[in-house]
Amino acid sequence: MFPIRRNRRFRTNEAMRALVRETSITPNDFIVPIFVVEGQGVKEEIDSMPNYFRYSLDLLENEVKELWSLGLKSVLLFVKVPDNLKDNAGKEALNPNGLMQRAIKTVKNTCPDMLVMTDVALDPYSMYGHDGIVENGKILNDATANFLAEMSVSHAQAGANIVAPSDMMDGRILAIRNALDGQGLIDTGIMSYSAKYASAFYGPFRDALDSAPVDLEHIPKDKKTYQMDFANRIEALKETQMDIDEGADIVMVKPGLCYLDIVREIKNDVDVPVAVYQVSGEYAMLKAAAEKGWLNHDAVMLEQITAIKRAGADIIASYFAKDVIKLINR
Ligand code: PBG
Repeated sequence: MFPIRRNRRFRTNEAMRALVRETSITPNDFIVPIFVVEGQGVKEEIDSMPNYFRYSLDLLENEVKELWSLGLKSVLLFVKVPDNLKDNAGKEALNPNGLMQRAIKTVKNTCPDMLVMTDVALDPYSMYGHDGIVENGKILNDATANFLAEMSVSHAQAGANIVAPSDMMDGRILAIRNALDGQGLIDTGIMSYSAKYASAFYGPFRDALDSAPVDLEHIPKDKKTYQMDFANRIEALKETQMDIDEGADIVMVKPGLCYLDIVREIKNDVDVPVAVYQVSGEYAMLKAAAEKGWLNHDAVMLEQITAIKRAGADIIASYFAKDVIKLINR
C-alpha cells in the first residue's frame, strides 16, 4: 500500500487539526504595551499606529479594566514626557511624582493584581532622544547604567513588579540588580531587552513618544553605537548570556518577526523565560496593508503571533494583544 503514512489525515477538518495543533495562543502569553500622557480625558490615536492610543491617567483606568476582563494580566508602561521636562540627564525620570510613577500607581490602584512592567530607558526623557547621557558626541555607558539603576529603584518603589531596561548599555543589569537589592527590593524582577537590534522598525514608537534622536550636529543620528547590528547572531547569544549572568529574570529579543532565528537559538540555549517584542513597525505594516485591502488583518495577525510563539517565545509583547484575544474568544 502506498503511501504508508498519510499526513493529510490530520488536516481533514478543524477538530482534527485542533487535536494535533502544537502551538496555541492564550491571554497568558501577552504583555500589553501602554502609552501614557499627561492630561485629562485624553485618548489620542497615534498617527502611524492606527487604533492604538495614548491615554491620560484617568482613561488608563478603563483601559486596564478592559485588559483584565479579557484575561490580559501584564502591562508594559511607556510615558510621553512633555518637552519642557526633557534634559540630557533624564532628571525627570527620578521624580517620585513623575508621570511614570503616577501611572504605576494608577494601574495598581485600579487593578491590584495586574503585573506592572516599566520601560527603563532615558530616551523619552532625553532632549536628544537617546537612551543614554550624551557627552562629546558619545553615549556614556557607565554613567547611564548607574542612572538606569536609580530609575529602576524609583519605579519599584512606586509599585512596579518588573523593570524592563530597553537601552543596551553594557553592565546595566548588574547595576540595576545591585541597586534594587540594596534597597531591599528583592522581589522586583528584571526583564532585559538583551538582544535588541538597531532597527528601522521602531519608527512609529518614536512617533508615539516623540522620542526620535534629534537632528543636531555632534549628536549621533541613530542608536547603532549601543543597539545591536542586525547582521549579527552570535552576538545575540553573548548579550543574552551576559544579561542572565548579571541577574536578568527574563530575556528578550526585539524586534520579532525578522528575528525568529535568533529567538529559536536563544530559546534552545537558556533556562529563563524568553520574551519577544513584536514592535511598532510590525504593527504599522500590517495595519497599512489591511487598510489597503491587500492582506486579511485578522488572519495575518494570528499567523504572525503563532509564528512568534512557535519560534520559542514564552512571552510576547505586542500591540495586537487585545485584538488577538478578542479574536480567539469570538
Ligand atoms: C526605547 C524603546 C524603543 C522601543 C521600546 N523602548 C525605541 C528605541 O529603541 O528607539 C521600541 C518599541 C517599538 O517600536 O514598538 N528605549
